[in-house]
Amino acid sequence: MRAKGAEMPGKDCVKVAVRVRPFNKRERDAGSRCIISMASSTITIQDPRNSQSPRSFCFDYAYWSHSGFTRDCSGLYIPEEPGGRYADQGSVFQDLGEGILENALQGYNATLLAYGQTGSGKSYSMVGYGPNKGLVPTLSDKLFQAIRANQDSRQCQVFFSMLEIYNEQVVDLLSRGSRSPGGLRVREEQQRGFYVEGLRRVPCDSAPQVEQLMEQGTRMRTTATTHMNANSSRSHMLIILQLKQIFSEESITKQSNINLVDLAGSERQRVSGSEADRLKEGTAINLSLTTLGNVISALADVAVGKKVVHIPYRDSVLTKLLQSALGGNSRTVMIAALSPADICYEESISTLRYAERAKRIQNRAVVNESPTERLVKELKAENARLLQRLSRLGQEGRRAEDETSRRWKEGGQRMKPWTLWEQHLQEALKDWEQQYATITQERRMMQMHPYILNINEDTQLSGVVKLFIQEGEWDIGLSDSSPRSISIRGLGIQDRHAVFSNVQRRVYLTPLAGSNVVVNGTPISQKTELQHLDRLILGSNSTYLFIGYPSERGGDDWSRYDYDYFQSELAAAEGINLHSLCDSSAVPSQTDPSLLAVFYDYIKLMPMVAEANQMSQELHKGVEFKLEIKNLALSDSKGHDLEKEIAVRVTSLENKQVWLWSKAKFVNRKFLMEELYQQHHTEQKGEGAARAPMPRDRDPFWDPLEPLLLGSAHLWLQSLAFRIALEEQLEVLGSEGTEEAILQAQLLPCSPTGLTLGEDDILIDPSELLGRRLDFQLVLDQCCGLRWVQQARNRGVQIGFRMFDSAQPLYTPAVWHNVNPLLDQRVHFTSLHTSQGLLEHLQTSALVLELWGLQEGCRDMVSSLEGVRMTPEGCFIIDQAGATETATTVDPGSELSCSLKALQQDVEELRNTNAALKTENNTLRDQLNTTRTGAEWGRGRSEMRGSSLRPSCDAEFARALKVFYHSMTSVRVQLQRLRRHRPSEESDLLGLRLFVDEQGGLLRDFSELLEQSVSSLKQDVAAIVRRKRERSGIWS
Ligand SMILES: Nc1ncnc2c1ncn2[C@@H]1O[C@H](COP(=O)(O)OP(=O)(O)O)[C@@H](O)[C@H]1O
Ligand SMILES: [Mg+2]
Repeated sequence: MRAKGAEMPGKDCVKVAVRVRPFNKRERDAGSRCIISMASSTITIQDPRNSQSPRSFCFDYAYWSHSGFTRDCSGLYIPEEPGGRYADQGSVFQDLGEGILENALQGYNATLLAYGQTGSGKSYSMVGYGPNKGLVPTLSDKLFQAIRANQDSRQCQVFFSMLEIYNEQVVDLLSRGSRSPGGLRVREEQQRGFYVEGLRRVPCDSAPQVEQLMEQGTRMRTTATTHMNANSSRSHMLIILQLKQIFSEESITKQSNINLVDLAGSERQRVSGSEADRLKEGTAINLSLTTLGNVISALADVAVGKKVVHIPYRDSVLTKLLQSALGGNSRTVMIAALSPADICYEESISTLRYAERAKRIQNRAVVNESPTERLVKELKAENARLLQRLSRLGQEGRRAEDETSRRWKEGGQRMKPWTLWEQHLQEALKDWEQQYATITQERRMMQMHPYILNINEDTQLSGVVKLFIQEGEWDIGLSDSSPRSISIRGLGIQDRHAVFSNVQRRVYLTPLAGSNVVVNGTPISQKTELQHLDRLILGSNSTYLFIGYPSERGGDDWSRYDYDYFQSELAAAEGINLHSLCDSSAVPSQTDPSLLAVFYDYIKLMPMVAEANQMSQELHKGVEFKLEIKNLALSDSKGHDLEKEIAVRVTSLENKQVWLWSKAKFVNRKFLMEELYQQHHTEQKGEGAARAPMPRDRDPFWDPLEPLLLGSAHLWLQSLAFRIALEEQLEVLGSEGTEEAILQAQLLPCSPTGLTLGEDDILIDPSELLGRRLDFQLVLDQCCGLRWVQQARNRGVQIGFRMFDSAQPLYTPAVWHNVNPLLDQRVHFTSLHTSQGLLEHLQTSALVLELWGLQEGCRDMVSSLEGVRMTPEGCFIIDQAGATETATTVDPGSELSCSLKALQQDVEELRNTNAALKTENNTLRDQLNTTRTGAEWGRGRSEMRGSSLRPSCDAEFARALKVFYHSMTSVRVQLQRLRRHRPSEESDLLGLRLFVDEQGGLLRDFSELLEQSVSSLKQDVAAIVRRKRERSGIWS
């Protein structure tokens, strides 16, 4: 479908198109739903969590490339049926490309921007893949066609440049020399505006020439990415086509710049409050993109008549270079690329909002024409300057000068401005022919020898580098000193990393000492024979696909061996796959999308962690990174066991300090590390004068120490609903299921003054508690076998917990240097009027006791008493919904200071009254106890209690319940143990068999326990019922 919207008012508004691509593999795996729909040029997006409120946006063009397509024999994606709604590359070009071409031929500057999250299809639209050529190659094709068609009326020059902006550095992707450290400079001139100084401009006169330059640029981008240890999704790629047209009849010259921009991925790491990093977001991680957003917003405001003081073009390299494209002298088009999937909703809606703003921008494009005379004058001046420089270069220059001046003299007036350009063109063509020969040679080699093919996270950069393994032995590594070496760069690659040997049409790979070589997910240490399509990882993360001899190749599809495939394979070898993440044996196709997200997070972070480790090692940072899957069930009071999250554990090798970083924090730090690493290398290459070491508080490898959540234990509250005392030995489990400690804890129902209740007070029907006061104490006696302290003695722990609706968690005081520390903590909780909510909570939930690890130099966790309500006796009030009147609030922030004073007086009075009452109460209690004990000796105590007392059968029943409840606790513990029981990562077949046996044993124990508990309850109940009937005389 290719829909054109209504003509926008003011013809120089930025034109905006949106395009939605097919599902990718991840999305299909996740069983994603398509949340985008289109009608004419309106696009509608559905929030997957809220079906009520679809949002609609209207753009100039909306392209449906999600479905309704088929692949023809040449690999081209076309509509399933003629006139179908699928928008192929051709129809996108018709609307957007043709317009740009026309504008350029008329002498306007033109800009095309592709915006969207990584993987949304920006490069597909801009550059294209294989036969599905994108806007740039088609544009150049059509441009040269047009030039040929108009040959009689004008003469044209085309210059091609290609650059990348990464981390605010400009890299010339066509540069032939070595890369200048720090990149090229962006300069400003009155006439020209901003431009990149020293950027190579290659004259072109045919489309194949442009395509080849693009290929060359992409190859350069691929190697630059590895050299800078960078990630292409964070870089912007700019192609600049300059078109100069000379109309000799009219004696005018028109010039236009066509900027074609494939922007960096628009996604952000969303950092929520608690995860916010101490170090600011990687300085330039997205500076250009952020600034682009700010510029667009400011311009959109200008368009609607708001007063805008300043448009921040100068804040980033990208916006400097695009200044004329945005609000200036250019006709600009933006294509916003979208994923169709529900899991990308947040990113997609943010892309649409961005595009919505962009379409308001108004430009003032003018035809750039000037009399040819002026151009001739300018060119003469330029030529003179160049000739001077050439002649300084000696003989060579002399010859060139002669040649040029000869041509100048020979040529008619019309020829003059062309000489230098033609000369450049000739050089470029020579270059091109050379490159062409190299490519032809490479094609021939591919048909003769095995080779390895680079696989990049960015599909656009995959398969760009081919390294041939001809007969004999070949060293692969950083070094290129010998003619028999294959030189590669990358993190963790050694000078001599491994040896390929190709003997009798078999290829072997032998790692050299200390180097990391992984084949099909498994590290190898010995000579290994390679098979066609084996996956190789060299060093930290240089990934290659091995392509065997042509005879072995067949017609297989290599595209499935993408970057994800490599990483999943590696993760699987570490025991992480979708299967292991799910507790049940759910098949991946039914996998919970959140688990799938965790899995993809894991394989995304895995190579980054490897790289961080390598950088830490090379920079002598002494820290090690490790991925962890945190089971959030540990902090869930219902013990639900599904949610998982990725975290990175950072350990200092020297003193075993430990940090736990969130995913977002790690990603940010990784970028800062790259920056530091890059800087380090540039300096090493430079004068060698080492800079002062980085201050610790700016070091991305370092953080102040913080208490660490080691694990948690669940203390089930159900017994409180029956007012049964509970004493437990709890297993404190770490996030990966390890036993961190044993915690001895008690829950004691008690009187308001803290006297423990006995069996007499057991309730049979918990609803009796409703509306009544409930008091109980939590006792934390001791922690045993603390793994955290066993690992390093200079550590300590604290226990933290939050009871029901308390606003703040409470922490026990820190205990240090002890594997089995006494805690001896007792906290009294009170609900003044037990609510239904509390009762339900008691019956279904657990108190989560968190074990926090302290390290030398980190601060303790302190219980904040802000907003905490207490009874005058100092009991913590919970269940506030049920209790408001008698409680006092510790609220220092109250602004009503006089009423506070009055309140304080009231409190004081209440406290006094209360103390008096308490004394009276105690006396009464003593008296009552003496009477009761005395009476019990004589008559049944049940009769003593009036309506609230229960017959002795009930007491027996309560006792039976208590026993049952206690046994259920062990059943529950056993069940949890079973659920967390996993085979060890290294298990072989024997190990697995042992595991199964063990599991069987645990199951048997579990069922026995359950059986026992239930049957003893049955017996007890039967006995009670029998006795009751006996007593009521039925059987007497
Ligand atoms: N319109 C489309 N039709 C078919 N495949 C597409 C389309 N757009 C993107 N893709 C595929 O999606 C993947 C990611 O696209 P790409 O353009 O590289 O994303 P980006 O440049 O935004 O990161 C590529 O494998 C590409 O082939
Ligand atoms: Mg891309």
